[in-house]
Amino acid sequence: MNNLVTISTHDDIAVITIDNPPVNALSPGVPEGILAAIDQVNESPALRAAVVIGAGRTFVAGADIKEFGKMTSGSRSRGSLLPLLLRIEDSKKPVVMAIHGTAFGGGLELAMAGHYRVAAPTAQVGQPEVKLGIIPGAGGTQRLPRLVGVAKAVEMCANGNPISAREAAALGLIDQLIEGNLAAEAVTFARGVASQPARKTRERTEKLGSAAECAPIFAAARDLAHKKQRGLMAPLAAIDAVEAATRLSFEEGCEAEARLFTECLFSDQSKALIHVFFSEREVGKIPDIPKETPAIPVNRVAVVGSGTMGGGIAMVFANAGIPVMLKDVDQEALDLGLGKIKKNYASSVQRGRFTQAYVDERLQLIKPVLSYDAFSDVDMVVEAVFEGMALKKTVFAELDRACRSGTILATNTSTLNIDEIAGATSRPESVIGTHFFSPANVMRLLEIVRGKASSKAVIASCLQLSKKLGKIGVLVGNCRGFVGNRMFGPYRREAQFLVEEGAEVQAVDEALVEFGNAMGPLATGDLAGLDVGWRIRKEYRYLEKPGIRQPIAEDRLCELGRFGQKTLKGWYRYDESRRASVDPEVGALVRKWSADAGIPQRQITASEIVDRCIYALVNEGARILEEGYALRAADIDIIYLNGYGFPPYRGGPMWHVDTVGLRKVYQRICELHEQHGELWAPAPLLKQLAEAGKTFADYDKQQLAAA
Ligand code: 3HC
Ligand code: NAI
Repeated sequence: MNNLVTISTHDDIAVITIDNPPVNALSPGVPEGILAAIDQVNESPALRAAVVIGAGRTFVAGADIKEFGKMTSGSRSRGSLLPLLLRIEDSKKPVVMAIHGTAFGGGLELAMAGHYRVAAPTAQVGQPEVKLGIIPGAGGTQRLPRLVGVAKAVEMCANGNPISAREAAALGLIDQLIEGNLAAEAVTFARGVASQPARKTRERTEKLGSAAECAPIFAAARDLAHKKQRGLMAPLAAIDAVEAATRLSFEEGCEAEARLFTECLFSDQSKALIHVFFSEREVGKIPDIPKETPAIPVNRVAVVGSGTMGGGIAMVFANAGIPVMLKDVDQEALDLGLGKIKKNYASSVQRGRFTQAYVDERLQLIKPVLSYDAFSDVDMVVEAVFEGMALKKTVFAELDRACRSGTILATNTSTLNIDEIAGATSRPESVIGTHFFSPANVMRLLEIVRGKASSKAVIASCLQLSKKLGKIGVLVGNCRGFVGNRMFGPYRREAQFLVEEGAEVQAVDEALVEFGNAMGPLATGDLAGLDVGWRIRKEYRYLEKPGIRQPIAEDRLCELGRFGQKTLKGWYRYDESRRASVDPEVGALVRKWSADAGIPQRQITASEIVDRCIYALVNEGARILEEGYALRAADIDIIYLNGYGFPPYRGGPMWHVDTVGLRKVYQRICELHEQHGELWAPAPLLKQLAEAGKTFADYDKQQLAAA
C-alpha cells in the first residue's frame, strides 16, 4: 500500500480506502495500492473479505485523464489496468466494491472486477470514455455486457451517459442499495457473503445472448451512432468492442478491446476531446479573480424585455429554481412573451423532457410585471430589450434608480459597447454583459463580457451563476461582437464571397457540414434572420474602409425581403414546416450581382471552401487573443463548441489549426492574402507562433505561466 490507498480492519473484514483527491482517479500508485491491499487480505488468516471504498466525495471517477497525454507523447509507457483488475477478480476472498458519488470509466471497470457491488442510491455509474474519444480500456466492454446484458452495455459504452445506482441495481450491476452508512453497511454485507464462493464477472455468460439475437442490437447501435454522433470514431469502436464480447472468449475480447482502445487513444479525435475536457474546467479560472473572491448571492432576479431572448433567459432562471420577474413595456408585449414561454414549455412536455408538474412549478417562478416597483428586491437584472444604444442607456438609467446598490446590472446586448451602457448609470462597477445565445434555454454558452469598470465580485458572481444555470460561462473582453460573433463575421463573409465567386449555395454549406459543423454558414444565416446582420451593417457602414471588398449578396437578398426562415425565403426556400430546399432563383440572382460587380466566376473546391471559412475564423481568433479579448485560445474553442456547433472531435477552431500545423495554416493564409488582399492579412500572433514552430496550446501555457 501507499499513501493513496489505506487498509483498516473491522474484525474479520478489511476496508480498503482509496484516497486520491479530488475524484480518486486511478493515477499511478492507486491500482497498485489496491492490489497490494487485496494481497494482504488474502494472506491474513483473520480476514475473510474486503470492502473497497473511496474517501471524500466519490468512489473512483476513472483512469487519470492527465496520464493519457503522457502516454501518447511517449513520456510514459502505458501500464494497463487490465492485469491488475484480473488479479483483484482472482482474489480467493470476496471483494465488495462500495460505491458513492461516481464510478466512471476505470472506476466502473474496477467495480466490475469485484465480486459484489453495493451503492448509495444517489451514486451514478457509467462508461463515459467515448466523450473523451476513447473506449473503456480495462475490460469494461467485456464485463459490462456480462452484468447488464448486451443491449444496455452497447448503449452505455457508445453514448457514454451514466445511469443511476437504482437503475444499475435493477439491471443487476449493483447487488444492493445502501440507504444508511455506506462503509458500515458494506462491511455487514461483506460479512454476509464471506463464506460463499466468490463469483468472477468474467466467467458469467448468461446475459451475453447468441450471435443471431445480438446482430440487430449492434446494427441499430451503429445506425444511431452515425446519426447522433456524426464523425466520431469512438462510439463505433465501443460497439465493435462489445460485439467482440459476444463472439470471443473473455481474453480474446479484452485483446480486441485493447487494440481498439489504443487506436482511439492515439487519434486526433481523442486528443481534441481530452483538450475539451480540461479546457471546460480551465475556462472558469481567471488569473486576477481567485476562486475565493466573494460573490454576490443571486436568489431573485428580473429580466427586462420579454422577447425572444428575454423570455428564454427567464426560463433559464426558472429552470434553475430562481424566481424571476419579467418586465416589458405593455400588457400586449408581456402576453406575447409569456405566450411563447408557455408554448416552449408545452412542447418540452410533449417531447417528454419535462413533466407538467415540473413546468407548472417553473411557471410559478416567472412573475410578469409592467413596472420597476419591486426591482429594489432583486440581486440581478438582465436587460434584453431591442438592440439600440439610446434605448439601452434609458433602461440602464431607470435600473440605476430602481435597484438597490450592489444589484448586478447585466445586458444581453450582442453588439453594443458595455462601457457606454455602464456610463448611463452611477455604478459602472455593477454593470456587465451576459451574452446568452439563442435559444437561451437550450444553448450552453454564456459569454460574460467584462466592462472596463466591472467589479471582480460581479464577474465572480456571473461565473458562479453560469454553473448554477447549467451554462458554461466564458469571460471575454468588450470588443465589437465580443469573441464569438466577432470571429463569426469573417467566417460568414467568406461564405458569401465564395458564392459570389461561383460556388453553389448548398456546396458551401455542405463543405462545412462535411467538415463537422452542425450547420453551414448560409443556412445558419437563414435561421438567425439575415435582416439582423443587415441592420447592424447599415448602422456601422461608416466604419467600413473604402476600397475593401464587402459581401453584396446578403444585403441584396434582404432588400428583396428574403430574411431567411422567418420569411420562408433567404439563401434557401422553406416550406411551412421550415424544411429547406435549394432555390434556383438565388443562384441566378447572385450570378447577376457578381457580373454587375465584375467578380470573375470559377470552379471552387470543397477544400477551398473549408480553408477560407475556417481560416478566416481562426485568423480573427488570433487577433482577439493577441488583443487580450479572450484569455486563452482554449476559451475560444469552448465558445465555438458550445455556441456555434463546431465539431467537438476537432477540439475547437484554435485546437484544430494546432493539429493541422500552424506553419501550414499560416502559409495558406499568406497565399489567400496574396490572392484576396488586405482582409486576409495574417494575424501577427499567428505569424509569430508559426515562425517559432509553436502552437496556440503553447501560447496558453506561456500565458498561464506568466499569470
Ligand atoms: N482524471 C484526472 N482528473 C480528473 C478526472 C480524471 N478522471 N476527473 C476529474 N478530474 C479533475 C478535473 O480536471 C478537476 O480538476 P481541477 O479542479 O484541477 O480543474 C477536478 O478533478 C474536479 O472535476 P470537476 O470539476 O469535473 O468536478 P465535478 O464534481 O463537477 O465532476 C466528475 C466530477 C463527474 C467525476 C467529472 O469530473 C467527470 O466526469 N470526470 C471524468 C470522468 C471520466 O471521463 N472517466 C473516464 C476516464 S477514462 C478511463 O477511465 C479509461 C479507462 O477505461 C481505462
Ligand atoms: P426582441 O425584439 O425579440 O425582444 C425585445 C423585447 O424588449 C420586446 O418584447 C420589447 O417589447 C421589449 N422592450 C423594448 N423596450 C423595452 C423597455 N423599455 N422596457 C421593457 N421592455 C422593452 O429582441 P431579442 O431578439 O430578444 O433581443 C434582445 C437583446 O438580446 C438585444 O440586445 C439583442 O441584440 C440581444 N441578442 C439577441 C439574440 C437573438 O438571437 N435574437 C442573440 C443574443 C443576443
